[in-house]
Amino acid sequence: MKSSTAIAHPNFALIKYWGKSNIVSNIPAMDSLAITINTMKSETRVSFPDYLEQDAWILNGMEQVSLGQIKAPYDYLKKISSTDQPILIESTNNFPTAAGLASSASGVASLVTALDSALETKLSSQEMVEAAILGSGSAARSLFSGFVHLEVSNDNLKCATLLETDEWPLNVIVCVTSTNEKTISSRQGMEISKTTSPMYNDWVNNHHEDIKLAIQAIEARDFHQLGKITEHNCLKMHKVMKTSNPSIDYWNPATHVCVKNVKNMQKKGFPVFFTIDAGPQVKIICEPDVTKDVISFIENLPGIHSIIESSLGKGARTIDE
Ligand code: PMV
Repeated sequence: MKSSTAIAHPNFALIKYWGKSNIVSNIPAMDSLAITINTMKSETRVSFPDYLEQDAWILNGMEQVSLGQIKAPYDYLKKISSTDQPILIESTNNFPTAAGLASSASGVASLVTALDSALETKLSSQEMVEAAILGSGSAARSLFSGFVHLEVSNDNLKCATLLETDEWPLNVIVCVTSTNEKTISSRQGMEISKTTSPMYNDWVNNHHEDIKLAIQAIEARDFHQLGKITEHNCLKMHKVMKTSNPSIDYWNPATHVCVKNVKNMQKKGFPVFFTIDAGPQVKIICEPDVTKDVISFIENLPGIHSIIESSLGKGARTIDE
């Protein structure tokens, strides 16, 4: 066994999953379709120091009291390797953690990749997907580059890149409207929606149509169509959240202002659309040549904390020398 370091990028869902079919194995109740982005990243180093008496996880420089969300994927790999040597896991994110910026997806994908290399478990791509899902339902998508489809059928998973980064280069502008950690985790929120929202069944039943339209748009490189279905799916998910009991509302005033401005830009003819996950941040997807214009349109809006610009990114990988 050797030390190993891996990086992975967050991915943002264009067609989202919200709800699990199986809480124990953390299987999403529906497909999802996302883009992996390249500027933001999680880095995880796995090592085996002699002084260590038990497994330890240090996240952004802070030792964690337990392995928490990473325990299940960690156990999956450790069991295959059958090592009993204590492992030190050091993870960092170069962007706010647990704030609706998909840090759990990139964090878990980098962890699984680093562990597979350090423990020499040589997992197949399918096993990597299964291990990553145990940590976060969206983490498997961060193993892959570009446009990524996570298919779920009778609890069986299939994850693959639909288009590589250079096959349809789009840019993403992340409008950070708060760096606070969210008060309701996605996992809790999904369970609340599943058990209380009167819209939940329709959300699940109509989901396949959204996936179909998005795949058609991606294959045809039809920006307008992809934007239309992405915004529709996003707003539908946030309605499911809002109609839950207790009602879940991740948006803040700046989120609303950003969305209004994206709609204004569209009216002016800009190729832009938005999406929002379980948090108040607005992700604006645009064609690369309008990126600067879009940034100057939104950077001075009230409540914008910072802006992160990115193109599409690669899947998780080790960065050992
Ligand atoms: O898998 P989690 O716990 O990171 O939840 C993801 C939830 C959404 O971001 C809202 C939707 C999605 O498909 O990414």
